[in-house]
Amino acid sequence: MIFFDTLDSTNRYAKEHFGELEDGELVVAATQTAGRGRLNRKWFSPRGNVYASCVIRVKERPFAGIEACSVALLDLLSELAPGSPFYVKWPNDVFCENAKTAGLLSEFNGDGLIVGIGLNLNMSEADLLSVGQEAASVFSVSGRRYDPMECAARLEHAIRRILPLLRNDPQALFDRWRRANALIGKELEFVCSDGTIVRGVFRDVGADGALLLQTPDGVVTRYDCGDLRIRRK
Ligand code: BTN
Repeated sequence: MIFFDTLDSTNRYAKEHFGELEDGELVVAATQTAGRGRLNRKWFSPRGNVYASCVIRVKERPFAGIEACSVALLDLLSELAPGSPFYVKWPNDVFCENAKTAGLLSEFNGDGLIVGIGLNLNMSEADLLSVGQEAASVFSVSGRRYDPMECAARLEHAIRRILPLLRNDPQALFDRWRRANALIGKELEFVCSDGTIVRGVFRDVGADGALLLQTPDGVVTRYDCGDLRIRRK
């Protein structure tokens, strides 16, 4: 693990130093000045959380790198806050109930994937309100405080533990990731990349990680990117 007090973005650093980083090694910063999120969003990066990026050398089906990091993150969360209902919200988020706790940002460079992980660890309810969407931290869920660097080291360990599955049994990794997608079967709104909103039932994920949404007319459509919105009753 390489640790920095401050970086603009751990993803930017990992991308630039891709060749020097080991498979599964984390680049970690205590704070980021230009943290990046999906769809060109900013990632608010105050101290106290985990900001980490890792390199995963995978050329075929790069989405497996996201599956590996998501499953590893859930493994870590089950140790940090046992019994709390964290799950994967397709494609790249970890939620607890209706609130986002972590986001993953993947960038493929032809030789492999850089997966950035932002985990809300110690943010208070007041800080979480400034995020601009319903958000939770491990602290807000469990009531416990955590050491961000220790958690980053444990995250690296969890990622390195899962990588053999990616290499040797990708189907087993996919199955674990699929099972962690707790919104499968639920009625949701899907925001397409052009902003169109489609309502339907999240039927399943395809073998390539695509979302399969069934609209009320019975038609099932595949989506590779976009955002799911949990519908309130
Ligand atoms: C998202 O949900 O939009 C993805 C957020 C990813 C944020 C992490 S923080 C560490 C890494 N460095 C970045 O600049 N972004 C990712």
